[in-house]
Amino acid sequence: MVSTVIKNWDNKTWLSSNEYIKSFNKFLIRHIKVNSNSKILDIGCGRGKILGNLSSNLKLKNKPLGIDIIAHKDRDKRIKFKKISASSFFLKKNYKFDLILIKQTIHLFSLKQIKKLLDLSKKNLNQNGKIFIFALDTNKNKLPTFDLMKKKLTKSLKRDKKILKFISEIYSIKKKRRFTYNVKISKKDYLRMIKERYISTLLTLSEEEISKGIKEINSKYSNFLRFTDKLICIVL
Ligand SMILES: C[S@@+](CC[C@H](N)C(=O)[O-])C[C@H]1O[C@@H](n2cnc3c(N)ncnc32)[C@H](O)[C@@H]1O
Repeated sequence: MVSTVIKNWDNKTWLSSNEYIKSFNKFLIRHIKVNSNSKILDIGCGRGKILGNLSSNLKLKNKPLGIDIIAHKDRDKRIKFKKISASSFFLKKNYKFDLILIKQTIHLFSLKQIKKLLDLSKKNLNQNGKIFIFALDTNKNKLPTFDLMKKKLTKSLKRDKKILKFISEIYSIKKKRRFTYNVKISKKDYLRMIKERYISTLLTLSEEEISKGIKEINSKYSNFLRFTDKLICIVL
């Protein structure tokens, strides 16, 4: 696994805003048959806000389970949380889920780990259960970037493409969809996100590289950034 301590992805960003979560969960509910009896797992759940909102929307009888290697103090209280790596989670117990969500996390694993994780996930699905994998849309990505960030992101998106191809070669993909969200964010807030290294492509940059990038974004963009956050969704 690549170096990964993503602490600020959903730390007061559009990705943890009520509007984003509502729109994301509306998309999910439209595409999978789930109800109050459903058992749901989110692998790499971060602060668990998506799962918490899903739990309220569906009035879930069983608290949904979120797993992550980081236990955030401000995580959503409507979920059951386990601080554990996805690679060792299933080995502990036999669980059965109706929905396993892997959102913007699959790229943090090696191909070998992905195969193991998806094999185990499939084994731990109920009869009509589904695995929903979301990743950045590799072709039409519009995230605001500075030069070095763009280079890293392009490299990472190439790898994502390889991952999606790999998955489609070993499993039968039941559906492929796109989720899009129109982001409006002040430059000030976006610069804070860059400073806090919200995305994995920024994790390995030096302080100097981040400062240079902040200056670049400051001069390249106006006070408000508007762009479309595009995700590919594959269903197994
Ligand atoms: C980009 S964030 C996505 C968070 C959330 N799924 C979302 O979309 O809002 C990736 C998450 O994966 C978690 N993660 C990284 N490696 C992991 C592992 N081996 N097992 C479980 N979670 C992991 C990170 O801590 C982080 O919370």
